[in-house]
Amino acid sequence: MKKRIIFLFSVFFTTLAYAGVSNQAFNKWHSNKYSMFIHFGLYSELGGVWEGEPVTRGYSEQIQSFAGIFSDWYAETALKFNPTKFNADSIVSLAKQAGMRSIVFTTKHHDGFCMFNTATTDYNSYSATPCKRDFIKEMSEACKRGNINFGLYFSIIDWNYPHAYPISSHNCDFITPQHHELSKKQVTELLTKYGPISELWFDMGSNTPEQSKELYNLVHQLQPDCMVSGRVGNDYYDFSVMADNAYPETALQCPWQSAASMFNETWSYRSWQKRGSAHVKAMEKLRSLINVVAHGGNFLLNIGPKGDGSVVPFESEVLKEIGNWLKTNGEAIYGTEASPFRTSFDWGMVTRKGNNLYLILSGKYPEDGLINLHMPDNKLVKGEGKLATCIQKNDNVEIRIPASAYNDKTINVLTLEFKDCIKEQGGEPIKGNMLTAENATPNYSYSCFDYYSNYRSTVSYSWNFEQLMLKQLELLYTEKEVGKSLDIDLDGKKYNITLNEGKPSMLSVASGTIWGKQYICGPGSGLFDAPSVIDTDFKNPPAKNGEWKEIEEGKNSMPANILETYFVMQNVESPKEQYVIVEVGTGNGIEVYLNGKSVMKHLNQYRCKFKSEKVLLNLKKGNNQIVMRVYNRFEKNIEFILRPSTDQTIYKQDITLTEMPNGKRHNLNIRQNGLSSIHSDTDLSNLRIRLRRMAL
Ligand code: GLC
Repeated sequence: MKKRIIFLFSVFFTTLAYAGVSNQAFNKWHSNKYSMFIHFGLYSELGGVWEGEPVTRGYSEQIQSFAGIFSDWYAETALKFNPTKFNADSIVSLAKQAGMRSIVFTTKHHDGFCMFNTATTDYNSYSATPCKRDFIKEMSEACKRGNINFGLYFSIIDWNYPHAYPISSHNCDFITPQHHELSKKQVTELLTKYGPISELWFDMGSNTPEQSKELYNLVHQLQPDCMVSGRVGNDYYDFSVMADNAYPETALQCPWQSAASMFNETWSYRSWQKRGSAHVKAMEKLRSLINVVAHGGNFLLNIGPKGDGSVVPFESEVLKEIGNWLKTNGEAIYGTEASPFRTSFDWGMVTRKGNNLYLILSGKYPEDGLINLHMPDNKLVKGEGKLATCIQKNDNVEIRIPASAYNDKTINVLTLEFKDCIKEQGGEPIKGNMLTAENATPNYSYSCFDYYSNYRSTVSYSWNFEQLMLKQLELLYTEKEVGKSLDIDLDGKKYNITLNEGKPSMLSVASGTIWGKQYICGPGSGLFDAPSVIDTDFKNPPAKNGEWKEIEEGKNSMPANILETYFVMQNVESPKEQYVIVEVGTGNGIEVYLNGKSVMKHLNQYRCKFKSEKVLLNLKKGNNQIVMRVYNRFEKNIEFILRPSTDQTIYKQDITLTEMPNGKRHNLNIRQNGLSSIHSDTDLSNLRIRLRRMAL
């Protein structure tokens, strides 16, 4: 029996909630790094022009698909569709020249037109067109001949399907039971007729958790090694996909991918596109590829062939230039892992493989010509790269580079070889004896209901600290954490603790603490994901064209549309630095920022209408700003609450260590056990851990 992935990246991903792919298939997918995305369908015929006007807003293939529903255009175009210049073998050969290791092709876009011969509908490239072609068959055979992986894009929404919910034509529509059955039939055909499929790239639509699970399991039942994309929804996935043309703020400790197009806002061919210099575009996309890979992800770059099936020469030129760079520098990309450093550098990006560290000079030349890397446990063997000199001074590796290492023509790479395999460097050791969410190194994944509510979740916290003779941990928590079960890993030794034995004590809120008025602003963006910092005040409302309006403190309720975000703000004057427990709550998703920094963020259970919870805030002396972001994905109404908690109880529970850890330097990891998925937020931002040298 093949080994299934149980262990992905973090030591805490010890249980995979669902079926998984084999290690071998996963490693192949993970090391491929760079793939071609192809958007090709009837809409390609339009060339980004609808009713004589260029489509400039929104994704052009989508507007075209949508427009198709209400016109005869689709039927007429199908009757003419004959892309004689579409040649699967030459596309495969272009992908290979570009250094791409797989191809993901649109089997069916939102318009519902299938690019394969399907028994489920005549609305397909084989039955409805004069060309009588099955493009999936052609591509699968060409990929096989060319020995590269083949993956399939599949749109979950299908605006051609008669049993869709009354057409709202959003790409986030819900899926009716009949429609779901159609998807299952089509997915079954796709996974049984075209040989091995490396990934199934579900897109859009809004599945219920049950529908997501069924599709996910169906794929694995038919082809266990086919990787499923996160857009199938509800955390059923093998790799997460960022929003279109989006890049995460930091590395993620889960498998992930960024899908990018040559020009934002279009995935299909636009005849009128001003394309500019292919070299400039190649450098832009190369930087994106490097950025993604240095953060541990895979990069999927799209081409949109013309209606006649030919590849746009500009796109082919861009791809070939990136391919040339990869011929020389591919060692720093394929098969690598994310940078071992959690910090980012202005001078460029880092990847690693075994004992090698690759410094990719894609940023700005450092003014003093020096790159300094803090690598206490690694011994430098040699620094390869004609451009630089490298020396190791105690815990640091110092690299001196000339200004000529940076130029507009290319991006240089320096290879550093170390004595041992390079591991993640971890955070700086914590000063003091209290571990908190604030001083932790968080481990991230992505969690979602669907595309719109896909967000970076914190799945565990990890700390490095120095402590001789560690004997006991004291866990401090609020009522919110009571009853939760935790997995703690201390230097590899595992403890499972339930928070049910804490001794209560009260926080006393300092007299002179003044709670200001409450304000609301919105609606804002429909996406739940947002940067982890917020910069707002009365003059700078966080929602576009919004303003702050005063509201009553307490539980509020108001009508809201789906995909709306509101912000609630309250200032607190604190006479000293202190902890206070605040009650917050809303329906589908919540984020709380203290003084501009996110301190808590998560989606609630699917279709939860209201849930209140406690958040522990570390107020500074003086003025503090609390901002709560409440997110409505599904409901007609939004309810929320933000107020100081009437209950200020802190529980304290001791864990006496059964084995005293050796030495001075330690690592501790913590996560909540029994969550609905390994991608759910661990929701432990209130927890603090005191390190004790004596057992009390
Ligand atoms: C968005 C668009 C869709 C496109 C996809 C690629 O989902 O709706 O048209 O296929 O992005 O990521």
